Amino acid sequence: MKIESITARSIPDTRGRLTIETTLAAGDLSASASVPSGKSTGEHEAVELDTVQAIENVNGEIAKALIGREFSSPDELDMFLIELDGTPNKSRLGANAILSVSIAVQRLFALQENIPLWKAVAKRAGTTPSAPKLFVNVMNGGVHAGFKLPFQEYMLVVSSKTSDALPIAQKAFAKLGEILGPDTPMGDEGGYAPTFDTLEKPFEILAEIVKEFPDTKIAIDVAASQLYIDDKYNILGKAYSTDELAHVYANLVGHFPICSIEDPFDENAKNDFIHFTSAVNGRVLVVGDDFTCTNPRLIDEAVKNNAVTAVLIKPNQIGTVMEAIEAVQKTQSAGFKVIASHRSGETADTFIVDFAYGVGAYGIKSGGLGQKERLEKYERLIAIEREAETV
Ligand code: PGA
Ligand code: ZN
Repeated sequence: MKIESITARSIPDTRGRLTIETTLAAGDLSASASVPSGKSTGEHEAVELDTVQAIENVNGEIAKALIGREFSSPDELDMFLIELDGTPNKSRLGANAILSVSIAVQRLFALQENIPLWKAVAKRAGTTPSAPKLFVNVMNGGVHAGFKLPFQEYMLVVSSKTSDALPIAQKAFAKLGEILGPDTPMGDEGGYAPTFDTLEKPFEILAEIVKEFPDTKIAIDVAASQLYIDDKYNILGKAYSTDELAHVYANLVGHFPICSIEDPFDENAKNDFIHFTSAVNGRVLVVGDDFTCTNPRLIDEAVKNNAVTAVLIKPNQIGTVMEAIEAVQKTQSAGFKVIASHRSGETADTFIVDFAYGVGAYGIKSGGLGQKERLEKYERLIAIEREAETV
């Protein structure tokens, strides 16, 4: 495939910040991709450049290097971009600039082969496509909601087939809205952002919802790095040691139907992850996000040490589709679960859904149902399921 044109421009994300959208053309084919942006970012993520700079890099140096050049596979193109950048963390050209090209290229190759995007991802990754469980973020806290709730995400995991799961999630979300009242504000990820003065209250409410909707369970993203100050975790005005926090989790898991805890400790607290994962002994998933940063090297280390039992995969944490696939392969070949994830600042791009389905991810995080960019992703999943029945 010969790339004939590349143009990047800015579009607003769900927080109203500008982000990059890139359009590529080859022959009669053209494809676009836009890149989301995190707020509670991991220390080891690939570097996101200022949007204006990222756009300049795509329209300038990247366009100059790619236009007129032949590529036989998307991997070849991703390798070329990694080498062109030349840094270990994409800090020169920007992970956002590079990923916008990498996703658009994946789309172009799928178009050229005339196969759905999820199928192209599956072929590239050597994975068996399947529908992920929905991890729907119904209550937002932490940096996504001015710390009105201490943990960043309170999710409902819905286990049914997506076409059944989405209506269940919508009913559960509406029920939660009734319980919380009409004046409850919304957080960054399109979930409710209420205020409670006890740690347990959101779990008590969600446990009632789980009772009413039997296919659901509770998952949380603590995003503990955001709570970690001077060797303690600050929760609702109280400072907890690591042992005290582990005790809090044990209590919550003992009392409420929790199936998954993401980033329970600071991203650099490797030994605490290892001890905790061993102590919970499979009763709940221990998910790495800031801890693993979609980085194949960090994932390798985490799975070898049994520091987690599941890994969050966010392509913009690493900067190319090729490396995001490598991150999935490392996770799955070690027998651990993949949860594909959007970011808190999203766009209408639904690539993450095709990616999740294509790699056969265990779960997908796409936020709450109070924001159209999140809902569109769950709807795309239903469309893929239908498509999969016919191809
Ligand atoms: P972020 O939040 O996109 O702000 O990093 C999502 C998450 O932590 O899972
Ligand atoms: Zn997270």
